[in-house]
Amino acid sequence: MHRRGWDQLAKWRDFRMGEGGDLWHRAIIDPTLLEVVGPVRGLSVLDLACGNGYLTRRWAREGAMRSVGVEHSRPTLALARRRERANPTGAEFLDRDARKLSGFASGTFDLVVSNMALQDIRNARGAVREVARILRPDGRFVFSLSHPCFDLDDRSGWVVERVREPDGHWHDVVWRKVRAYRDERSVDVSWDISDRETGWTTGYHRTLTTYSRWLREAGLAITRLEEPSPLPEAIRGTPQGSYMLEVPLHLVVEARFLPSGAPRRGDRALTRPGSRSSAGNRPKESPRSGSGDRRRRSGSVRRGSTTGL
Ligand SMILES: C[S@@+](CC[C@H](N)C(=O)[O-])C[C@H]1O[C@@H](n2cnc3c(N)ncnc32)[C@H](O)[C@@H]1O
Repeated sequence: MHRRGWDQLAKWRDFRMGEGGDLWHRAIIDPTLLEVVGPVRGLSVLDLACGNGYLTRRWAREGAMRSVGVEHSRPTLALARRRERANPTGAEFLDRDARKLSGFASGTFDLVVSNMALQDIRNARGAVREVARILRPDGRFVFSLSHPCFDLDDRSGWVVERVREPDGHWHDVVWRKVRAYRDERSVDVSWDISDRETGWTTGYHRTLTTYSRWLREAGLAITRLEEPSPLPEAIRGTPQGSYMLEVPLHLVVEARFLPSGAPRRGDRALTRPGSRSSAGNRPKESPRSGSGDRRRRSGSVRRGSTTGL
């Protein structure tokens, strides 16, 4: 289902993303991502798992010396190329698996950006390794993710509790519940294409430790980490918008090469016996929800290996 799932979503995603991103990109994720990316004029930029390429095209318009989007879904790529043909910006779109960026010499790019895709890439460890290979020594890798700590497929959700104050006034207290954070695995992700149609892809939950370790193994270290806050448009536009003012569902990371001579291997894994937290008070309401249109199918989660998802 892996690539085929994205193939089936291609038209729907292209329609939603358009040239500026959907609400979740436009008003939550991208403002922070773009701020971390900074000016791209004169840079060679790779957009890893670029989807319909709206950011690849944006960076070409903003004066990137070279702006390349890579994707493994051919229907998605065809739509990116169609946009580029209709309205040329100079962006290139190539059919590549993020884990094997063949055709790019080592040290080709100043900047690799991956927007909301690493959690959808099987063996993203290989993708991180490839990113490090194609980056220049002073290059940067910037990526956004579903927040590994707060957006864990069907194992996280909002809890909205109606609380009565001593003065008799009622108000809502929002909690984010999370369980089994350390359990890395693959999960079926459903997308609400319409009232009648649901699309499915495969996502991969990994801990922050795992992402950080993969970066270190590739010689990269985190130099910036941001947790995007919703803009007013998102607060108005989705019930979760105001909740995200309290708990972020996304992460934006910038990584650069460690100085030469610094250790390049990940730290040895620290394992700790799993522990179960005791049941708390029953929530009044418990909407289960992930980022944007993502909905995880309850009970359909498949177990993956504990490493290298
Ligand atoms: C959630 S979408 C994000 C797309 C785009 N970056 C955006 O923000 O609109 C995830 C993308 O990752 C792509 N993808 C997943 N695994 C991939 C792989 N191994 N190589 C290349 N692309 C991959 C999918 O086809 C899909 O377009």
